[in-house]
Amino acid sequence: MLQETKQHIRETVDYLNNRKTINPKVGIVLGSGLGGLTKALDIVDEIPYKEIPFFPISTVKGHKGTLIFARLNGVEVVVLNGRFHYYEGYPMEVVTYPQQVFCGIGVKTIILSNAAGGMNPTFKVGDIMIIRDHINFFGTNPLLGPNDDELGPRFPNMNEVYSQRLISMAHQKASENNIHLQEGVYMGVSGPCFETPSEYKAYWILGADAVGMSTVPEAIVAHHRGMEIFALSVITDLGVVGMKAETSHEEVLAAANSAEPKMVKLICEMLPTI
Ligand code: HPA
Repeated sequence: MLQETKQHIRETVDYLNNRKTINPKVGIVLGSGLGGLTKALDIVDEIPYKEIPFFPISTVKGHKGTLIFARLNGVEVVVLNGRFHYYEGYPMEVVTYPQQVFCGIGVKTIILSNAAGGMNPTFKVGDIMIIRDHINFFGTNPLLGPNDDELGPRFPNMNEVYSQRLISMAHQKASENNIHLQEGVYMGVSGPCFETPSEYKAYWILGADAVGMSTVPEAIVAHHRGMEIFALSVITDLGVVGMKAETSHEEVLAAANSAEPKMVKLICEMLPTI
């Protein structure tokens, strides 16, 4: 990491440490169409990104730009309401800036959510898929460049990026609450194009169950910093072999919105035991 970036992160963290009145150990990143989770929050402080020194600003429709300190089901959380995507043109260090900041303010566990296209033929639109593992298909990596050994290792072990403990907890809470869960591998791609039929097929053959344009860089950085990660995809469209995919951003947002209550319920149930 560049010394300049490290200094910016330090200033962002100092600002937030001075301002915050709660000390969340859990950070939540809200994906496309999943911002409605904010309705379940008891908000303590909601800060527009533009008020936060050196914090990036998001540009996509349906993505807001606030950092929220809140309680969710009684548990202190910090919520990134609007993430930064690689396809927007941000460099990887900007895409993953919030994870560095989360780590700096004391977050130990990160919950990442996203909207994704499903390739697995057993998936349906509106399903929630717990991410068991990922394939980084961005063609780049947020850890490229000089490593800062104070932050994490040069060659991170990627055996268990997504916490098995939290995956087991999710399955248990889901079965107690009658929430149907899928589990699978997430393929992270740059976008902004949705996939061609041949790309969906290729990713399925490669071993992915769903594909999306986020999460992987954030998970890599969070893992590098030693945070525990739980991630889920809401399946908003299908790219199943033999089926014609007609993906649009509007459909993705609508499907994400309708699946959101289940996702909120699952996260609320997990929080007290995280
Ligand atoms: N492909 C990539 N990203 C996505 C998709 C998809 O089908 N759906 C939602 N995000």
